Amino acid sequence: AARLKMRILELNRQAARFFHHNLTTPAGATGLRYFRERGLSDDTIKRFGLGYSLEGWSSLCDHLKGQGFTERELLEARVAAQGKSGKGCYDLFRGRAMFPIIDLRGNVIGFGGRVIGEGGPKYLNSPDTPVFKKSRNLFALNRAKSSKLDGLILAEGYMDVIALHQAGFDNAVATLGTSLTAEQTQLIAKYCNEVTIAYDSDGAGQNATRRAINLFADVGVKIRVLKMEGAKDPDEYIKKFGATRFKLLLENCNNAIEFEISKLRAKYDIETADGKVNFLNEFSKLMAGIRNPVERDVYVKKVSGELAVSPEAVLQLIGTNVKRKV
Ligand code: GTP
Ligand code: MN
Ligand code: MN
Ligand code: MN
Ligand code: MN
Repeated sequence: AARLKMRILELNRQAARFFHHNLTTPAGATGLRYFRERGLSDDTIKRFGLGYSLEGWSSLCDHLKGQGFTERELLEARVAAQGKSGKGCYDLFRGRAMFPIIDLRGNVIGFGGRVIGEGGPKYLNSPDTPVFKKSRNLFALNRAKSSKLDGLILAEGYMDVIALHQAGFDNAVATLGTSLTAEQTQLIAKYCNEVTIAYDSDGAGQNATRRAINLFADVGVKIRVLKMEGAKDPDEYIKKFGATRFKLLLENCNNAIEFEISKLRAKYDIETADGKVNFLNEFSKLMAGIRNPVERDVYVKKVSGELAVSPEAVLQLIGTNVKRKV
């Protein structure tokens, strides 16, 4: 098993080299054009080892077989799939912009491949293999771990991370096409104690943010939530408004509690008596989870002022919820 793992890692490295090399050939010009159109510099393309998987069915398989890899190894590495008849195999990634996934030791452990033009799925990721567990790795942590910036930025996608690094925010990482796992938060907790969540601004991104807040609370990592307006994700934001504006967003980030309060505000109509009561009920539950009384006081003062209710009444409500919790 140890030998197979070594072979898969070597195979992946050769595959990444092949994909990257394709960018410089006529057949791979589509890939290079794609990355450039998305605003990536040649230096960034090189640094992240980006590449292109050729159209057709077997260019990678042929190339790797020529280097002495067996069909079984190609299948175990999941860069190839078995043909329908059970005989032979074909390239899993075809005509896609390729993102190698590199672990903390610098090994290529898998790939993400984005469709260029029409067709789906938009992103195809390597399935798990003996060397690749999606739930235990993060994209670009190998680079972000040595960043001089404080904490980490957690984004949704490969392109977000790469655009962030290119703009100087080289502490950005992303999950690998799945939702955040407890293992990933434990891994992150080894490197930093503060994470800024910069997920997409759509509904899915907001739900994922709430989930992430809870998962990070379990490992004691402090959370800040980036509030992006006018763009759907960090990549688009930086393209539209520039790195300086993004830095301002980072500096004026909400913490997790503020994020939750703003969600509650959107959920209830606080102009009505009913809405106020329901809002305050949920708000007090949220407050009951805060240990620091001073921090709690800050939010209570602010919210009771906004709703024109007495802070004492709100504190009483919180007291009821605290008791219920114990
Ligand atoms: P671009 O359109 O290239 O900017 O991608 P994006 O990162 O903005 O895409 P999106 O917000 O839709 O997805 C975020 C991340 O989720 C991607 O980077 C992928 O890792 C993953 N993802 C997106 N689409 C798919 C899919 O169809 N299948 C899988 N497995 N993962 C996906
Ligand atoms: Mn999507
Ligand atoms: Mn998204
Ligand atoms: Mn995007
Ligand atoms: Mn996105």
